[in-house]
Amino acid sequence: DQHDTVLVETRGRVGIITLNRPRALNALDAATLRDVVAAAAAFDADPAIGAIVLTGSEKAFAAGADIKEMAARSGPEMFLADWFAGWDAFTRVRTPVVGAVAGYALGGGCELAMMCDVLIAADTARFGQPEINLGVIPGMGGSQRLTRAVGKAKAMDMVLTGRQMDAAEAERSGLVSRVVPAAELLDEALRTAETIAARPLPATLAAKEAVNAAFETTLAQGVLFERRLFHALFATEDQKEGMAAFAEKREPRFTHR
Ligand code: HXC
Repeated sequence: DQHDTVLVETRGRVGIITLNRPRALNALDAATLRDVVAAAAAFDADPAIGAIVLTGSEKAFAAGADIKEMAARSGPEMFLADWFAGWDAFTRVRTPVVGAVAGYALGGGCELAMMCDVLIAADTARFGQPEINLGVIPGMGGSQRLTRAVGKAKAMDMVLTGRQMDAAEAERSGLVSRVVPAAELLDEALRTAETIAARPLPATLAAKEAVNAAFETTLAQGVLFERRLFHALFATEDQKEGMAAFAEKREPRFTHR
């Protein structure tokens, strides 16, 4: 089965990917990588899907990369397989991804959460990069994305000591967008995804590209990139409709959504 580590479903214009290896607390092994990337790519290619929700279980979003799968591998094996490089494909998904985290998001689980665009945490969420306790360091982008998200002081603290952040500290530090009671996590994530999916798609994709450019370019280059995207959106029906509807005090009827 292509999807034996995840559950994949569609609700209206929202695609839902649920990590589903409960016996391993959703540890991210090679099969999970294959299935998450395949499911996300399929949703990305489907014009009927306007946003994706990625979530785990009540106990764990994901407790890390699969330690047992890696433990015995040699350095050359890890290098030649380019271990974890496959996750980069997840960051190339253009459709916005809402991450919904309850319980443990550790190591690769924290790193996968940080690849999502909007991150919603249950009050039970715990974030950490405990790789140092295993004799390694983050390998799915943690040292880079955590530092960009929460700054050097907190990133160093977490990566060097392996200590976990609870949901309140994660929100205070800018790691997550919002915190909600655990019982409301999926509803909040779905509502957010539905809101995103109801917006005109060209502007939505441009907005995601523009924000992501902030992590890749200088300020002047990023501002120029944003302005050019902004100009380009005046070539869409949705810009004409959105602005006309405002002036006419009515709801817009978007073409691309
Ligand atoms: C493989 C894992 C796993 C993982 C949990 N399991 N995390 N298997 N890889 N990352 C398995 C356990 O071995 C166990 O299997 C089952 O899931 C349930 O876990 P328990 O430990 O029994 O649960 P609990 O006592 O509630 O403790 C939860 C936990 C703990 C605190 C989250 O599981 C834990 O510390 N996990 C490892 C967290 C971690 O170090 N993550 C970073 C991984 S490295 P059995 O068969 O015994 O029931 C990484 C970056 C890559 O992600 C860098 C290279 C290493």
